[in-house]
Amino acid sequence: MSVAPEEIAQVRASTDIVALIGEHVALRKTGQRWTGLCPFHSEKSPSFSVNAEEGLYYCFGCRASGDAITFVRETQHVEFIDAVRQLAERAGITLHEDAKDVGGWRDRSVLYDAMERAVTWYHERLLTAPDAGRARDYLRSRGYDAATVREFRLGWAPDDWDQLVTSLKIRAEVASTSGIGFVNKAGRLQDAMRARVLFPILDPGGRPVAIGGRILPGHETTARGGSGRIEPKYKNTQETPIYQKRRTLYGLNWAKSDVIATNEIVVCEGYTDVIAFFRAGVPRAVATCGTALAEDHFRVMRNFARRIVLAYDADGAGQSAAASVYQWERAHEVEVAVAALPEGADPDDLARDDPDGLAAAVKSAVPFLQFRLDAALRGVDVSTPEGRARAAERALDVVAEHPSDLVRDQYVMQVADRCRLDPTLLRADVARRANAPRSSTTRASRPKVRDEGGAPRDRPGEEALRLALHSPERILPRLAEVLFDDELLRRAYLVLVTSGGHATAIDAAEAEEDLEVADLLRRLLVEEPHEPTGGADLVTAVVAQLVRHATRTVLEHRQAAVRSGALEARDVVEEISLAKELLDRLEGPDGQEAERELVEWLSAVGRIEGA
Ligand code: UTP
Ligand code: MN
Repeated sequence: MSVAPEEIAQVRASTDIVALIGEHVALRKTGQRWTGLCPFHSEKSPSFSVNAEEGLYYCFGCRASGDAITFVRETQHVEFIDAVRQLAERAGITLHEDAKDVGGWRDRSVLYDAMERAVTWYHERLLTAPDAGRARDYLRSRGYDAATVREFRLGWAPDDWDQLVTSLKIRAEVASTSGIGFVNKAGRLQDAMRARVLFPILDPGGRPVAIGGRILPGHETTARGGSGRIEPKYKNTQETPIYQKRRTLYGLNWAKSDVIATNEIVVCEGYTDVIAFFRAGVPRAVATCGTALAEDHFRVMRNFARRIVLAYDADGAGQSAAASVYQWERAHEVEVAVAALPEGADPDDLARDDPDGLAAAVKSAVPFLQFRLDAALRGVDVSTPEGRARAAERALDVVAEHPSDLVRDQYVMQVADRCRLDPTLLRADVARRANAPRSSTTRASRPKVRDEGGAPRDRPGEEALRLALHSPERILPRLAEVLFDDELLRRAYLVLVTSGGHATAIDAAEAEEDLEVADLLRRLLVEEPHEPTGGADLVTAVVAQLVRHATRTVLEHRQAAVRSGALEARDVVEEISLAKELLDRLEGPDGQEAERELVEWLSAVGRIEGA
């Protein structure tokens, strides 16, 4: 199975890499580039850079680099050809693959299409169909207006077997692979959702990938076939090639912009809670889809925000596995806080009774450990010595779970204060607990962080190459191999001029298996040449600097040779004084003329010395 190179090139060219990566990473425009937190390693300050024009990305921290295809491959762990297919779908390009499909879901666009059509059909049904009256009443009773119904594309699945698949004429294979329908025991194709209010689940780019359906109140048992079976309150699409629960967050597509703007994401338990947050003026809430919060969810979230606020109902939040939360906090360099909601109330209840209170709960969210500590100490009696000791025991159990000595110590002080006990005693106690072997405190390996000191040191010549990649026509005619005294930079320059253009240089370097050069070129392509200062011509300034450096190097060699007796002074004195004169003229009005002469001379010297 293969795709013609021209089609692959077309897919690359038709992909907006900023939009593609922007679905996973919050990108901000800085000059000509886009930057954000690297999705391939954990970091606190952005060292991930995307060049829209060239369609490439590069990370200064972990040196991940590539184009749209690489990005899809590495973020989704798929084969090259699958990445190409996905991007082709996105761009609306039909690939002409030269072999037959060998099973598996190659053409996921069919699934996206089917899901999109189903969501639209169900939505229309809710808005207009007579049989959706009860659903509309129900939503109204929950306080949803038409705008909310439209914004979240809510739907209604009629109380019938197969109206959707029949009306949309969806093939059985597509219906069952996308989770829209299934083939029943009698071999008949049936709709997956029946008599439910629907909450479409969209991917971060806004494409429907699945559906959550809620039963209407009072219909927990339906008379379907007279079985009297108890139906679950919510039913969700099963996992499909376009829907993986462990990394899907309901609402992220709507929340994304506010999440990026505030650097904070609110995680709640259900579809209705997410909508409640939006209605209460906190438009940055997401929910897992009928599963527990998992590490993959953290991976997704941390590309958009550093602060994760858990907004579960009172018992829900405390139940999150503490060890995992601390571990993910570390591994993904995020900070997890908990919004304290009143006992027994979920965000949805609160949004109706006290929307300001809901927003305030997010604002006053406390660190995860603080939340657990408060819960442990709630209602304990500290009026007696025995009571205080018991309280401290419970509190220290919670504190000991935290993997950081420093963090633990600060909470120990707090416990000492609140229980009026000697901190020294408590400290010894918590140290003993924390060091006792237990699986819950297994630490995440330390995440790789970029080297101190920010961007890598600029070698002389890097700027020239950067310009050569960004505007080759302006600078390449003025450069020569001899101007690059750094071995790596010289190789990069040669690849660039011999490969017939910057667009093919990286491929050429890779073909020659010079990965160092390929990496360098990718990095330079996403970096922006420095802005010229004071109206100076950047190209001229850069070339002049290179020429000056190369000239001085040669002159030093000449002078050293004279001192050592390898050359006669009278043989080189003229040459040296001419070179020095040209150097002076470099700054003057005929600087470019001097530049050309120097480059010629340097190249001649280089050829003689190289021979
Ligand atoms: P809840 O039972 O808390 O429902 O389930 P809710 O969000 O408050 O919904 P309303 O207010 O009763 O309408 C929370 C989430 O757990 C999943 C769903 O994702 C739901 O949004 N869930 C719940 C299921 O997947 N199946 C169920 O049967 C129940
Ligand atoms: Mn609820």
